[in-house]
Amino acid sequence: MFSSLRLAAFAFTSLLLSSSVLGLTIPTKRAQLCNGHSELCERKYGNTTFLGSHDSFAFSGNPFALARTQEVDIEAQLTLGVRLLQAQSHMNGKDLHFCHTTCGLFDGGKVEDYLNKVKHFLDRHPNDVLTLIFTNPESVSVSKVWKPIFDKTGFTDMAYVPPQPVMSREDWPTLGEMIESGKRVVIFLDHGADSRTEPDVEFILPQFQMVWEDKYDPTNSKFPCKVDRSQGPLAPSQQLNLINHNLNTNIFPIGRGILIPDRLDSPRTNSIEAIASHSSHCAQYVEDRKPNFVLLDYVNVGQGMAAVDRLNGFSY
Ligand SMILES: *[C@@H]1O[C@H](CO)[C@@H](O)[C@H](O)[C@H]1NC(C)=O
Repeated sequence: MFSSLRLAAFAFTSLLLSSSVLGLTIPTKRAQLCNGHSELCERKYGNTTFLGSHDSFAFSGNPFALARTQEVDIEAQLTLGVRLLQAQSHMNGKDLHFCHTTCGLFDGGKVEDYLNKVKHFLDRHPNDVLTLIFTNPESVSVSKVWKPIFDKTGFTDMAYVPPQPVMSREDWPTLGEMIESGKRVVIFLDHGADSRTEPDVEFILPQFQMVWEDKYDPTNSKFPCKVDRSQGPLAPSQQLNLINHNLNTNIFPIGRGILIPDRLDSPRTNSIEAIASHSSHCAQYVEDRKPNFVLLDYVNVGQGMAAVDRLNGFSY
């Protein structure tokens, strides 16, 4: 009797408590946390730094898989805070795959299967903005091959479609606006996405018109910075920027050599200090701002997320 009374009183109090909590949250339908921080809801996409995974599909726990760039799978990378997934595509038979250099060297499987996994994560994280930067070295058709895969995996409905063909750094909406509109995935392709040749695929965006990069496959652990790949019409300072912060080592120093990701150095490469230093080298090209994307190998090693939090102005 006594305990059931106590139970009833407890249930009543919790009802009161939860309804007052509900009362506070119901009137505003706005996102409360964006990519894990309330401050980022008001921050423009172009003023945000995101942690990126280089060749995100090429994960393996086997240290002798020399073409790997990551140790943990896509789900684990996203759980660590990665919000830019980069990947390199190649045709394998009649299917588009993600492969490293060639599918014989490292085959990450079908793009469709990869995207299904990413979609699964996005569905469980409705308050997160994600960027995809895929390469298209074989100039595979955007409308005939890429678009159907994005359609089938549910990405087309979530993809952000800019109001104009080329967005400057200032033009992007806030993360909160993107989340509330449901258009919270930004999809860039390095090659073949062009509104003049592909007018019907307006959600696959031409990367180098909007995002510049410094040198890829860097081998200098000091990470000097220079604009390497960028296309007009905007000046680099008006574009988003990505730093290729994945250190490579040459294992065959004859001729052009053979570069592989430097796993031994990765705790230092992925340290707060090394990432901050690389960012500061690029600041001269972006009016002293921080980079938008920090692309890492082995995102599970070092302090990538903490470094990105600092670049966003959060420190603990
Ligand atoms: C965001 O804006 C602040 C304040 O102007 C600036 O210090 C920071 O570098 C910007 N970050 C990015 C990624 O643009």
